Amino acid sequence: MTVFLNGKFLPLSEAHISPLDRGFLFGDGVYEVIPVYAGKLFRGNQHLDRLQNSLNGIRLTNPHSKQEWTGILEELIARQPHDNLSIYLQVTRGADNKRDHSFPGNDIQPTVFIMANELKTAPVATTQDGVCAITQPDDRWEHCDIKAITLLANILLRQQATDQGCAETILIRDGIVIEGAASNVFVVTGKLIKTPNKGHQMLTGITRDLVLEIAASQNIETVECDIAVDELLGADEVWISSSTKEVLPVTSIDGKQIGDGTPGPVWQELISYYADYKKRLVAGEIS
Ligand code: PDD
Repeated sequence: MTVFLNGKFLPLSEAHISPLDRGFLFGDGVYEVIPVYAGKLFRGNQHLDRLQNSLNGIRLTNPHSKQEWTGILEELIARQPHDNLSIYLQVTRGADNKRDHSFPGNDIQPTVFIMANELKTAPVATTQDGVCAITQPDDRWEHCDIKAITLLANILLRQQATDQGCAETILIRDGIVIEGAASNVFVVTGKLIKTPNKGHQMLTGITRDLVLEIAASQNIETVECDIAVDELLGADEVWISSSTKEVLPVTSIDGKQIGDGTPGPVWQELISYYADYKKRLVAGEIS
């Protein structure tokens, strides 16, 4: 696999970083995951805007302009054997010659690493039957709008779902739904689609925003608001969204059936519009 590390395209086996890299020592960095369909970046602009927000959040100067990022990403995509990809892009504060919590001087260059893995579509069983989720108290920090590589809490929370044979852990703060360990959450009652408000406690998903945009374009009503756990568990439909999962129906939470236990009609409708959007992107009708 060809990866990008600090200005060079090279085989993964030749990509090395210092053990003093602050990403390795402190988790001092941010990342993006960007889907690629038929060789085309999906919502690349929005992902690069969010990268800038994350870099601002950790006070790290963006090492590349948007144009440079796009050029690097397009070249990396061209060097991959697959057309549908999940790009992982990480920027850390770089490697100093010592371990010190305070930021290093300006002479230290950030470390930029990018790789691309094949993006596989969801297995048929997932979209036919939906997935199960669990809920857990959200014990992460207060800056979840920064897409930080420091993901220990998210990993531990997700693993609890994995241990129970479920796909995701839905995080709850003070009785309110926040997001998944690595996804955003939607709740449908009747035809109304609800999703939690943006804020510091959650990551504003690019997929989430696209779902809202697609729904608006089809005159399907959506609202961004607080959602209580009872509303989640009593909903007709629950979905999770992310760049790698797209939009998946959740048909059971904490062992309790959601709606009639099958992917609901609003999801069926939305996902067909989502598929159309992807087709238009691949056809070059939208960028
Ligand atoms: N994660 N919330 C969290 C905590 C996430 O980690 C993610 C995605 C999302 C959804 O964001 P988007 O729609 O922009 O992918 C929400 C990626 C996929 C990951 O960490 O691999």
